Amino acid sequence: MNLIIAIDGPAAAGKGTLARRLAAHFGLPHLDTGLLYRATGRRVLDAGGAPADPLVAEAAARALTAADLARDDLRGPAADAAATQVAAVPGVRAALLEFQRSFGGGRGAVLDGRDIGTVVFPAAAAKLFVTASVAARGRRRWLELTARGEAADLAEVIEQVRRRDAQDRSRAAAPLVPAADALLLDTTTLDAAATFTRALELLGTRVNA
Ligand code: CDP
Repeated sequence: MNLIIAIDGPAAAGKGTLARRLAAHFGLPHLDTGLLYRATGRRVLDAGGAPADPLVAEAAARALTAADLARDDLRGPAADAAATQVAAVPGVRAALLEFQRSFGGGRGAVLDGRDIGTVVFPAAAAKLFVTASVAARGRRRWLELTARGEAADLAEVIEQVRRRDAQDRSRAAAPLVPAADALLLDTTTLDAAATFTRALELLGTRVNA
């Protein structure tokens, strides 16, 4: 069976951690699709270009290699902002679509992102839309940054998360929106273990676990 589990939601909602756990549980490969946009943005920044420039951003997306995805500088405020900017470019999204579809096309996969259930795999049987309050998500992102030893101001990080969500929701190309048949999972008061348990309960109705 080709099982696709599509996990979408706003920034720092806990999609990545949940996706990794679900992938291990179901014995499926996992693709963090945000990495594709992060690596595209990083290539543009390295070349001294503007991430919002459609031609430059699309060329960077088409030139991506596996090594780009393995870089250790794909997280942090500058990388976040560049990823969100290139992600609004239709040509970038088109360039990355085939890779995402073929990743899940074999024996199935867990993919997390913003448009997996709406655009990449609209026919996926199992779709989760993972959210949390912006304060909870900003705090998680702030904890990640400080755990890496980076100086960060909590209020500023919450504001960056809010701004990035607004950009992802308002763009014309594949905006962040729950698929009509997505199961909603609010993680505001849930830790990673409780989120995983709740996700399995929700998915039980769509997947033979
Ligand atoms: O980790 P976080 O939730 O902050 O972000 P991410 O999932 O790594 O995604 C970074 C950015 O890439 C997002 O703000 C989106 O603009 C973009 N993205 C997208 O447009 N579509 C996807 N399927 C995944 C990410």
